[in-house]
Formats: sequence, structure tokens, C-alpha cells
Amino acid sequence: MLLHIPDVLDATALARSDALLKQADWTDGRITAGSQAATVKNNLQLPETSPVAQQLRTLVLEALSRNPAFFSAALPKRIYPPLFNRYGGTANAFGNHVDNAVRTHPATAQHVRTDMSFTLFLNDPAEYDGGELVIEDGMGGRAIKLPAGHLILYPAYSVHRVEPVTRGARLACFSWLESMVREPQQRELLHELDMSIAALRSEHGETDAAVRLTSCYHNLMRMWATV
Ligand code: NI
Repeated sequence: MLLHIPDVLDATALARSDALLKQADWTDGRITAGSQAATVKNNLQLPETSPVAQQLRTLVLEALSRNPAFFSAALPKRIYPPLFNRYGGTANAFGNHVDNAVRTHPATAQHVRTDMSFTLFLNDPAEYDGGELVIEDGMGGRAIKLPAGHLILYPAYSVHRVEPVTRGARLACFSWLESMVREPQQRELLHELDMSIAALRSEHGETDAAVRLTSCYHNLMRMWATV
């Protein structure tokens, strides 16, 4: 499942992230790549310990914690501290690769099994050409390029790439998460059920059927979630 979540960052948060990104001290993106990915990765990243990255990370994690669509679709158990990248100039693309299955945070030594990946676009797509995130789906791939502040959530097992940026620069935040529900089909089913219950409630108010379906949702969570 690919899920586009609009307006994860509002105008105030985007203005703050713009100001922080202007002070960014970019470095070679291969610092966090696995050995296969490193051979095709050519972009810039903020070092994980840089003060700018830390402030940006707080801003993004706060926004994610307030976003019900993100919670419903991801059911996050652990989110790897988000990273920030820049594609442009001579460091402008990332060829086909898969993300490592487990990431270990250098500072905390905490492991995160990467069930889902996300990219949060940080600047206006009119500022650059190219830079689409292409997620292979057996049908030639889906090309994704979203407005600033919008996020794409996708299964971390997908082969994916970032197309060369041929004008301007593409700025984004990306990371991975371990979900409370490991199996993608179970997670998708819960998300579908949750969305349907919310729609039913908004159309018909609190009904007996809505209460029973909510009970089904939580009982499925009880069967499938590990916390
Ligand atoms: Ni990747």
C-alpha cells in the first residue's frame, strides 16, 4: 500500500523547516547507506548529530505524532529518528535499491525493523525538475513527487529510486518505522476498517453497528499487535 498523507507540515512548520534548512551543513549521503545502496547513492544528507538535523527531527516527529492518518496506516511502534537529504547539482540521484531490513541507531543502539518507509517532501516541486521517488510495483513503477509538507508512506520491502534532479534542488525528510502490526495485509485491513468506521460515524453518528465494528477493530489489534 502506498499512502499519500497531505499537509503533515502546516505553513508555520514549513516556514520553520525552511529557515533551518538554510543553515544546513550537508555531507555525503552514503553515510547511512547499506553496501548495495551505497553503490547507487549520490546525494547529500545532514549528519544525524548536527544541531539543525536535531531541530528538524523534533519538528517532524511532533507533526507525525499529531497525524491520525499516519497513525492509522502505520501503527508505529518505533520510528527511526528521521534523516534529511538534498538532491541537486552533481549529487542528484539514488538508483534502484532496497532499504536495510534492520536499522540500528548509532547513538542509542536501538534496533528498528523497517516495515514501512516514508518520505516527507520539504520544498515546492516547482523549485526543481526530476527528483521523483519511483517505487517499483511490477508495473514499471509509481513516480511520486508531492507538494511541500506532504508525505508518502510505502512498504519498506519495495525496490525504489530517486530520479536525477536536473534543475534546482529537492529537499526531503525520510525514515523508516517498525509497526506494531508486522504483516502488511493485516495492517492494511486494520487501516481500511478504521477509515470505514470513521466514515460510518461521520455519516450516521454513533450507532450500534459502529460500536460493534470498533470492537472488531480493537479485538483484531489485540490479536495482531506486538508492543
Ligand atoms: Ni531507500
